Amino acid sequence: MRILMVCLGNICRSPIAEGVMRTLVNRSNLDWRVDSAGTESYHIGEPPHSYSQKICQKNGIDISQQKARKFVAADLENFDLIYVMARDVMESVKHIAGSAFDARKVILFLEESHPGSGRSVPDPWYGPEAGYSEVFDMIHHTCSVILEKYRTRTSADLLL
Ligand code: 4NP
Repeated sequence: MRILMVCLGNICRSPIAEGVMRTLVNRSNLDWRVDSAGTESYHIGEPPHSYSQKICQKNGIDISQQKARKFVAADLENFDLIYVMARDVMESVKHIAGSAFDARKVILFLEESHPGSGRSVPDPWYGPEAGYSEVFDMIHHTCSVILEKYRTRTSADLLL
């Protein structure tokens, strides 16, 4: 499985999702590829936000070496599942992907844990540190659901 987590800046939400997902995958000895990207260019090359790093560190996850990159249309080819953290991110992904967009593989992240809710992971960027903790818990829970759902599947199964 190849999983891409996408948010707006790739410095707050999706880096946490990448770190948490990779940690759960490694603990399960699965050979999955996990990455993250942002739909905007503001923070390309930067490490995750200090509060994102801090909440991950507190939970035994080191995301300090991750670097922000921009989401590109080719990601539709290179990943099996693309999780968008929010509805506005879904719109930007559609725009960037253009004719490469594939609704079967681009999924609103919280739909895995709260099906039918249409919920977005709140953007903690403008808020206090506590927001990052709330976002971490939401992301951790949803990554656990994703792991259980796909742990026995391979990329090829998704095409069936
Ligand atoms: P993220 O949060 O999409 O979770 O990484 C944001 C980071 C930066 C900005 C907005 C959201 N920004 O406007 O710079």
